[in-house]
Amino acid sequence: MSDGINRQILLIDKPTGKLGPEHFKLSTAAMPEPGDGEALLRVRYISLDAANRAWMHGATYRSAVEANTVMAGGGIAEVVSSKADGLAPGDIVFADTGWQDYVALPAKHLTRMPRIEPLTYLLSVYGIAGLTAYFGLLDIGKPKAGETVVVSAAAGSVGSIVGQIARIKGCRVVGIAGGQDKCHWLTSELGFDAAVDYKDGAVFKALRAAAPNGIDVYFDNVGGDILEACLPQMNNYGRIACCGAISQYDGAPQTHGPRGVPGLIVVKRLVMQGFIVMDYMKERDRALADLQAWVASGQLKVQEDIIAGLENTPKALIGLLAGENRGKRMVKV
Ligand SMILES: NC(=O)c1ccc[n+]([C@@H]2O[C@H](COP(=O)([O-])OP(=O)(O)OC[C@H]3O[C@@H](n4cnc5c(N)ncnc54)[C@H](OP(=O)(O)O)[C@@H]3O)[C@@H](O)[C@H]2O)c1
Repeated sequence: MSDGINRQILLIDKPTGKLGPEHFKLSTAAMPEPGDGEALLRVRYISLDAANRAWMHGATYRSAVEANTVMAGGGIAEVVSSKADGLAPGDIVFADTGWQDYVALPAKHLTRMPRIEPLTYLLSVYGIAGLTAYFGLLDIGKPKAGETVVVSAAAGSVGSIVGQIARIKGCRVVGIAGGQDKCHWLTSELGFDAAVDYKDGAVFKALRAAAPNGIDVYFDNVGGDILEACLPQMNNYGRIACCGAISQYDGAPQTHGPRGVPGLIVVKRLVMQGFIVMDYMKERDRALADLQAWVASGQLKVQEDIIAGLENTPKALIGLLAGENRGKRMVKV
């Protein structure tokens, strides 16, 4: 960051295939000026999310990101100056800051956050990742002690927290992740009962061995072939929490959906429900109280993957889609 200059990462082209560095450009603009009711923010940490890639396909639960605009993304920022009531320099907020050093935004689009240490927890365990894991698992998956919970993208930001909460609730937990190293980390460090390396092939068979009593709750972060492998192994009255479909985000979409829908859902009386974490924000305090207690007691380990430098944000997102990250990936601006 330098005086009077605002560095920005622009999305210059919407990818039709895989996302690459050629789709982004580092640019500079004048420092933004806050208008009435706005605050000038210095961005501290940018959240890297699989959904960043999904937004490039078109409107989802938010509007699409367009070419030749600052790449959208959530971030933790500090108020530099304010023309809004209730916001003062030094305040910490969460906002859709975009990938840039500074942004001026209306106060109504900012969420005030406590100044905690480390600040990064506001993006990981106490941020969207932790809240998504909490509400998706507990409110939609409704796990009971003794049941088997399976989670995909299990070594990622949401998945690693889902598995640990399921363990806290007394469930048998199976994670699905890419590579032996990640699988070993899940069982040796995070307390998962078993892990399946989907890159090793034969997911269906490996899952059968890891979850011999069938699956009661499947927390689905990926969709596609892994969802198809889980469906026939669901127990009657099982619950599938549809959190995301990362296998479909980067590159050409699959030409067919998972087989077994709706047949297996009918026969096994499954509940398959999608959710968007923003719908639960009114209940955030309940989740935060539990998450804070679990972190404090050491039952919930927080894994973060922090990349330094705004200029490295495109590479960091491309790497996340390729499975480079363990836990919550973010960029320190
Ligand atoms: N519903 C909501 O409100 C909500 C909120 C936040 C996030 N989400 C969703 O939660 C999921 C996780 O997102 P995140 O941002 O936290 O990312 P993340 O889990 O931290 O990282 C993504 C991981 O997905 C795995 N992956 C990539 N391509 C895959 C594929 N084709 N098949 C299987 N796994 C693949 C990679 O790990 P491997 O090495 O294991 O492949 C990668 O590390 C996404 O689907 C996202 O859209 C939903």
